[in-house]
Amino acid sequence: MRILVIGSGAREHALLVALAADPAVTELHAAPGNPGMVQATCHDTAVTDPAAVTTLARRLEVDLVVIGPEVPLVAGVGDALRAAGFPVFGPSAEAARIEGSKAFAKDVMATAGVRTARAEVVDSPADLDEALDRFGPTWVVKDDGLAAGKGVVVTPDRAAAHAHALACLDDGHPVLLESFLDGPEVSLFCLVDGETVVPLLPAQDHKRVGEGDRGPNTGGMGAYTPLPWLPEGVVEQIVSEVCEPVAREMVARGCGFSGLLYAGLAITSSGPEVVEFNCRFGDPETQAVLALLESPLGQVLHAVATGRLAELPPLVWREGAAVTVVLAAENYPGSPRRGDVIEGAEQPGVFHAGTARDVDGRLVSAGGRVLSVVGTGSDLAAARAEAYRILDGIELGGGHFRRDIGLAAEESRISIPG
Ligand code: GLY
Repeated sequence: MRILVIGSGAREHALLVALAADPAVTELHAAPGNPGMVQATCHDTAVTDPAAVTTLARRLEVDLVVIGPEVPLVAGVGDALRAAGFPVFGPSAEAARIEGSKAFAKDVMATAGVRTARAEVVDSPADLDEALDRFGPTWVVKDDGLAAGKGVVVTPDRAAAHAHALACLDDGHPVLLESFLDGPEVSLFCLVDGETVVPLLPAQDHKRVGEGDRGPNTGGMGAYTPLPWLPEGVVEQIVSEVCEPVAREMVARGCGFSGLLYAGLAITSSGPEVVEFNCRFGDPETQAVLALLESPLGQVLHAVATGRLAELPPLVWREGAAVTVVLAAENYPGSPRRGDVIEGAEQPGVFHAGTARDVDGRLVSAGGRVLSVVGTGSDLAAARAEAYRILDGIELGGGHFRRDIGLAAEESRISIPG
């Protein structure tokens, strides 16, 4: 099977590594890719341009296209490829609105009877103050567009909430205000093919830049899987109370979902409540989740893309745990410094994101999240130790990472509000 993966991050690098381990996969391509993706041939293609990606898929005669990021999905790249006859892992532009428009997602959830935070859309600065008075403290302010997690501010400080909302409105985006959901967060990725829903292992992201969950939100500084603190049966509850009703509602609206539905939830005292949906694999959780997948990923994604998910045997997972730690560039999540030389990245378990080659062929930083490092082990402590052992062998001037990824879970400090 020849596969083209769209994207350039550590998530897509992890997808390629897992796809390369599938004996049915014979050839891998990536667009635009990154310097770490030695498993694939990389193509410098404009991946948000449906016609350009379709031309590339035709030239390579691929059997499957896997679309990693949300932007090409929302731009209709999947639709163009399907119209040209290619199996695609990733939803249509209409279905991708579950991530692309928070207001659409709320409407789907309301009709499907899915529990989520109370929300109001504000589209004028004149309405902002009164709307803020109806929420908080704590305030949750979201950019109602694609912001890869960075458009969200969660704060007890009303002035900070007001400033973020105003900045989004000034950029011409409506703002979503939400009630704060108290409880530990879970990322549950589900393969979805119409009304068929198959969950992957649950994971937890660490969104704040600083240890102890301090500082601004980022795209994600690390993740671990599985979740030792999550009671048995909660994944099944999320599937039956959240993901299946949403999948059915999308079919009923004529925009059935095909691909990866990412439910971000808070486990509150009254059960799981949705924080957000995404229409693609999460980053950095995917790097950890795929490290434990034993089933052949190419065959799994191809089954979803061709409407045969219900025929697949149950997924098989390795025992143990996996931890992703993100190495970020100096000043991330502000304006990250670029061009710093990276040493020691040629190790198994290292996935590239913001990297490039300079004119001398040296590997340098070229984005905010530079590398993802994944450790696996018999339990969370062993997986954490392995991830940090690999990281200690990597040099990046000004680079920073959190030392506490998965630590609260390892120390049994995570509890569900009672
Ligand atoms: N883990 C956050 C995201 O993928 O959006």
